[in-house]
Amino acid sequence: MNTDPQRSHPGIIPGPYRLLHGGDYNPEQWLHRPEVLEADPVLMRQAGVNQASVGIFAWAALEPERDRFTWDWLDRVMDRLHAAGVGVLLATPSAARPRWLAEAHPEVMRTRRDGRPIPPGEMRHNHCLSSPVLRERIALVDCKIAERYAGHPALLGWHISNEFGGDEDGARCYCARCLAGFRDWLRVRYHDDLGALNLAWWTGFWSHQYGSWDQIRPGDASIEALNLNWQRYTSGLVADFCAAEIAAVRRHSALPATTNFHGNLAHYDHGEVAAHLDLMSYDSYPSIEGGPGDMGQVHWHAWAVDAVRGHAPGRPWLLMESCPSLPQWHRTQRLKRPGVHRALSLAMVGHGSDGVCYFQWRAGRGGMEKLHGAVLMQDAPHDTRVFREVAALGDELARLGAVAGSAVPAEAAVLWDVHSEWARGWNSGLRSLPFPAELSQGWHRPLWQAGIGVDVVDGTRSLAGYRLVIVPGLFLLRPGLVERLQQAAAAGAQILIDGLSAWVDDDMACVAGGRPGPLAGPLGLRCEEFDQLRSDESVAVEDGGGWLSAAPRVRGWIDRVHPDGCEVLVRAVGGFHDGWPVLTRKVCGAGAMWYLAAGLAAEDAAALTIRLAAIAQVQPALPGLPRGVIARERRQPDCRFVFLINPGDEPATVELPGGGWSDAASGAVIGARLTLGAWDARVVSQRCPLP
Ligand code: GAL
Repeated sequence: MNTDPQRSHPGIIPGPYRLLHGGDYNPEQWLHRPEVLEADPVLMRQAGVNQASVGIFAWAALEPERDRFTWDWLDRVMDRLHAAGVGVLLATPSAARPRWLAEAHPEVMRTRRDGRPIPPGEMRHNHCLSSPVLRERIALVDCKIAERYAGHPALLGWHISNEFGGDEDGARCYCARCLAGFRDWLRVRYHDDLGALNLAWWTGFWSHQYGSWDQIRPGDASIEALNLNWQRYTSGLVADFCAAEIAAVRRHSALPATTNFHGNLAHYDHGEVAAHLDLMSYDSYPSIEGGPGDMGQVHWHAWAVDAVRGHAPGRPWLLMESCPSLPQWHRTQRLKRPGVHRALSLAMVGHGSDGVCYFQWRAGRGGMEKLHGAVLMQDAPHDTRVFREVAALGDELARLGAVAGSAVPAEAAVLWDVHSEWARGWNSGLRSLPFPAELSQGWHRPLWQAGIGVDVVDGTRSLAGYRLVIVPGLFLLRPGLVERLQQAAAAGAQILIDGLSAWVDDDMACVAGGRPGPLAGPLGLRCEEFDQLRSDESVAVEDGGGWLSAAPRVRGWIDRVHPDGCEVLVRAVGGFHDGWPVLTRKVCGAGAMWYLAAGLAAEDAAALTIRLAAIAQVQPALPGLPRGVIARERRQPDCRFVFLINPGDEPATVELPGGGWSDAASGAVIGARLTLGAWDARVVSQRCPLP
């Protein structure tokens, strides 16, 4: 791995520091058109492409029949790409398997929840991850690919499989082998003690006691812990499968390995998979329709990549897939207007991506993704607006090479834990209250809008170093979290926990002793009742300290809590809830634990967040940002970069205080203010320490 004292982090790939620009390249679909394959590397150079992810779905082209390997086409592709200066993230091709394998060994395919096997050819991710045949065959292919190309000069690293979990029901399989594996996993989790499982899962409910391990099978919705643990087990299978693929390539290559995370991040526990990876990567497809929803899309993806980066806080990651124009599955087939692709891409680099990659370089002429916007559309002429925008971005990314390896500072953390998301999903109550991801996004948004660096972290991460920690909707308490929250508070952090948190333990039993369980002491209160408000209802508050907005009201829910050592800062006024605490604080060492005992409107939550950030002395990348302008900061030891994005139709002027600013791509000196046009983006840098 390359290191350099001028950079905060090692590069994400070996070789000179640079931002990657490229994407999925599927030459196996064009083997009948050699002239197309010859043109690709030439056009890649013109587009400023320096990376290609190759072979992701190429198992059938690499092993057309059992044990007959055809390397010649891939040899030529690798050589050509290298000659054009394009590095390769070589894929392990497990995301789509050859038909011969499925026909010869039906066990490699998934079985649906109702016990029906999914026929070959139906679905891309139609594999049973516990199938020994699948594992043996993919290990063999992975090993052979690694052996053949480990020393190839084009090789940058490994793209393991593709979007694990990305299919119906999270790509879970319910075959007899998976169910047996689940029971074995449960035996380990409960130390071979069925009585302990019965107690932890509260199976006395409606006579659900298990008399033998064999009676356990997922599906009974009345035992919520059953389904939560099934989800954990199947998530563990993803991590184990991914780890096995990495082990196979590791027999010949030590180059970095990643797998591309995607979508809503609840398919599996990404923290578990992340533990095996050298580099986090994510596929991001915001839908920009030119309307009021655009900002929500831009923010949703900002939250998601802050969560991906949260598995390796501070470090660069990689935007593995994005679309330079229009994914064919977007609801509205609206083209990205000029500049939108550049702005969204630079926003991702601002969030820590050391590159911008696409799905895909060249669209195929057939198959269900033939109309998915690629850099090149099939074999049509390349002289297009999209190609020109991509090439211009490639040029700009090359000029922003100093950004590569820079840190992504974050003094604030917002928690989101997939186990709480799953638990709320199985929980039969609280259905119409917001789920953890939505709550986490709601608290992340004001920090993001204010230009404050924030990590979205799960309930297992160290919280050391954060000055502000927001814990929204953490329904299920992960083991050790309470201690970590207390340690962070003792060290000086401001910690805000809301009343949708700390309801159940790791097996979905209500926390012992009543809510908020082990947080009662640290928060200095206990909860008695929880009330959901109608959507047209709200409750007035007394907010003498001005913690909330100018006209604050409680909305959604109120948790009736008894103070027991905390101070009450905001109270409900009038009606049934008159006098009940809304916001409390208990000093804890150098910091404090805050409890939000009621739902807030977005503007109240934003006001409280910004106030807490000020108390925590968390600094934004730039103070006083105009509304709608996004600012993300990255840092090298001797300078900081601020990525400024204006994802809207009105120009905006940004103040740049402190002096020493320049344009990071051109080096031109910039004064104390900068105007950004509609959908404009600029990367500015400031020397550190300041002159
Ligand atoms: C991704 C997937 C790609 C391609 C793309 C289309 O989720 O990894 O292979 O299908 O979506 O948007």
